[in-house]
Amino acid sequence: MVNDASVVILAAGQGTRMKSRMAKVLHRAGGKALVEHVIDAARGIASAERIFVAVGHQAESVAAVAGQSGVGSFVQTEQLGTGHAVMCGEAQLISLGGILLILNGDCPLIRAETIERLIELYRSTGSGASMITCDLGDPTGYGRIVRDASGDVLEIVEHKAATDAQRAIHEINAGFYCFNAAAFWQHVHDLKPDNPAHEYYLTDMIAILLRAGHRVTALKVEDAAEMQGINNRVELAAADKRLRERKVRQLMLDGVTIEKPETVTIDAQVKIGMDTAIGPFAQITGHTVIGENCRIGASCVIENASIADEVEVFPFSIISASSLAARSHVGPFARLRMGASLEESAHVGNFVELKKTKLGAGSKSMHLAYLGDSQIGSKVNIGAGTITCNYDGAKKHATHIGDGTFVGSNSTLVAPLEIAEGAYIAAGSVITDPVPAKALALGRARQVVKEGWVKKPAKAD
Ligand code: UD1
Ligand code: CA
Repeated sequence: MVNDASVVILAAGQGTRMKSRMAKVLHRAGGKALVEHVIDAARGIASAERIFVAVGHQAESVAAVAGQSGVGSFVQTEQLGTGHAVMCGEAQLISLGGILLILNGDCPLIRAETIERLIELYRSTGSGASMITCDLGDPTGYGRIVRDASGDVLEIVEHKAATDAQRAIHEINAGFYCFNAAAFWQHVHDLKPDNPAHEYYLTDMIAILLRAGHRVTALKVEDAAEMQGINNRVELAAADKRLRERKVRQLMLDGVTIEKPETVTIDAQVKIGMDTAIGPFAQITGHTVIGENCRIGASCVIENASIADEVEVFPFSIISASSLAARSHVGPFARLRMGASLEESAHVGNFVELKKTKLGAGSKSMHLAYLGDSQIGSKVNIGAGTITCNYDGAKKHATHIGDGTFVGSNSTLVAPLEIAEGAYIAAGSVITDPVPAKALALGRARQVVKEGWVKKPAKAD
């Protein structure tokens, strides 16, 4: 933590090149909004109450993302440029002193370690301003770093304002700066919109501070990918890919086996324990937490789930907002949703759907069932084809099934319904009334056999 650092994250622009109704920084990559990645990097450096996001386009939504991440925001009503954006935060920031970090909100790959290196350079050189630069094969659109014969930085020239000679420079401004806060606030009002875009360019602060006698230094980084700004959806997809590669690599280094890692999609916030194995094409998203020694089969889709240790999820299962206790099994082709929960060693098999349903310890529903709004005890066997009729066309109703109950195949359980512990439901029954403990309930027509009913033998053709 750098105690004297305050941070502004620039996120007020619309992002015209995204061709979207949604503000650019709200677009998602690696499972988070672009601006959230930058906020998270900033939180690795400065305390949350010293971090502010400049918001403008869809200000409320972007400020809400900032709020959820525990950081502040201020509004730039009119987008008059990156320098103007910082000025809009003057009231909150000017008294904080120390160093002022300014981070582009559309560069989601930035890591806290790299910002730390920037601060180190700033301090060790006694600079008034330091920034991150890198060489790009195609620098089109970026601000160019203009240096003098001895290699000292003279200024940043925006692409639009650059001469042909300046456009030939491959070293670009990455959009991450460390300023002496006092010097910054003293001179920021010297910015003028005297450029083709008529904007207050933050990048002009470099030449302004040099003129005022401050030293300016640049941290030139090798990894240009980390500096990638997102301006269109092609760059968005590329950043998403890199963020996911980063996540998967970290998981593998932490002891998770991932088969065909290039095929899986795992969000940044997901946690997975040691010795768990993930199959190809799995999608594990949101705030999912998976314990140790689990197996997640190929092509499972798991969202906001909580999965304990030694759980097996067989291929093609879909689990959303649900929890699985230790040693439970799910799938293949199962669906758990809206707060479904499996207790220890419960098993759910193929083509079984659970919605808002608890399946108790050691209970099984192995084939073709719908269990909705149900509380099912331990050691219960739910036969193939069992359906809880939880909806009467107007309201949802609950089903309670006691411990040790046996529900025969193809049972139709019409809710609201209570089946007490140890009861037996005969196969093919439609059950509408309560079933007491240890009773056998039959709810179907008795079989009729008509001897000799077939007059002619069936024709064999
Ligand atoms: C900016 C830099 C450029 C650098 C590039 C790196 C300036 C003038 N240029 O250019 O030198 O190479 O980033 O990616 O700073 N924003 C606001 N308010 C505004 C305008 C922009 O908050 O009035 C925000 C945007 O939402 C965005 C960030 O600032 O998150 C950068 O703006 P953008 O328009 O993308 O700047 P670039 O042209 O990429
Ligand atoms: Ca940009």
